[in-house]
Amino acid sequence: MFEHITPYAGDPIFALVDAFNRDSRPHKVNLSIGIYFDEQGRLPVLRCVQEAERRILAEGGAKPYLPMEGDATCRAEVAKLLLGEQHPAIGQGRVATIQTVGSSGGLKVGADFLRTWLPDRAVWVSDPTWDNHRSMFEGSGFAVHSYPYYDATTGGLRFEDMLACLKGLPPRSIVLLHACCHNPTGVDLAPVQWDRLIPVLRERELLPYLDLAYQGFGDGIDEDAYAVRALAASGLTFFVANSFSKSMSVYGERCGALSAICASPAEADLVMGQLRYTVRRIYSSPAIHAARLVAHVLGDADLRSMWEGELAQMRQRMVEVRQALHARLSALRPDRDLGFLLSQRGMFSYTGLSAEQVDRLREEHAVYLIRSGRLCVAGLTQGNVDRVAQALAQVV
Ligand code: LMR
Repeated sequence: MFEHITPYAGDPIFALVDAFNRDSRPHKVNLSIGIYFDEQGRLPVLRCVQEAERRILAEGGAKPYLPMEGDATCRAEVAKLLLGEQHPAIGQGRVATIQTVGSSGGLKVGADFLRTWLPDRAVWVSDPTWDNHRSMFEGSGFAVHSYPYYDATTGGLRFEDMLACLKGLPPRSIVLLHACCHNPTGVDLAPVQWDRLIPVLRERELLPYLDLAYQGFGDGIDEDAYAVRALAASGLTFFVANSFSKSMSVYGERCGALSAICASPAEADLVMGQLRYTVRRIYSSPAIHAARLVAHVLGDADLRSMWEGELAQMRQRMVEVRQALHARLSALRPDRDLGFLLSQRGMFSYTGLSAEQVDRLREEHAVYLIRSGRLCVAGLTQGNVDRVAQALAQVV
């Protein structure tokens, strides 16, 4: 029955996690998968999440199926987090938000929806992008192309090339954009660049599809939502998939959402109906514990401010270890311009290392990066940064 199946080569990110877990060298350092570790190298359990879980347990309560679109309180809190408390689009009923199984679940539901309702369009992703973007959209039946993004010579953005490419796309093409903390490069559009991009999206009648997996890991919760809010203010119709995996450190709970910001309440109703149907055909309805967690943390003033404080600490720690790596590596390799380590933002830096150099780091130094050269700064600590700098200095 299954002899003809081709073997799965493995996921480039999860395969490295498996290899890291099997590695018995005590000094190993995991800078591969996008997971935030604390200064002790542990996966943190945020106090706001512990307190929310205590309250959820104390409330007791049964665990019925959620509706296909998820929990209403959770969805309302997500819309406010994305757009800001008082955004008119929310009051006008133009936002269709569904709770999803992580933001991956949201991206996939959105991809299936778009394949049904914009079937002749193609998807455009940044070069490079998170590997799974391409797989997800291709899996939904789309042709996926890339627009220029990362500039390997400067470690920055090819913004003019990106704009020129998008200006040439057919109307209603779907353009996947990273709202902040670009994965894998850490290179983001500045607000002034979003302000130049948005008129192009509008003139070309393109459909922006934002991936917002790291809200709060860049400059702050509101600052990192700049793209979402600027697109909403421009009146464009767009999608945004967002995640709490990293920002609340609840990876395995699969807390995410998909929102469609539409031109009218009638359109939002239509979209919501078809998103519900799409969910029903894939996983029926999302997880109740995820909904309760997000609703408690975002909806309760005390838990919300606790979360904002804890998120700020994670953000600050990532800035500090970036600076520490930059300082150590600059001292060891004064011949290299390493400014990109400081200018790139969020969890990732794109080192420019080749796959062979990354292999040497892993094999000779037990330092794990993704083979694209992506380094997860959130795996650095003041305790391991010296070793990592020395290892990097030897392979670059
Ligand atoms: C990553 O890019 O490492 C994370 O988003 C985890 C994942 O699912 O790939």
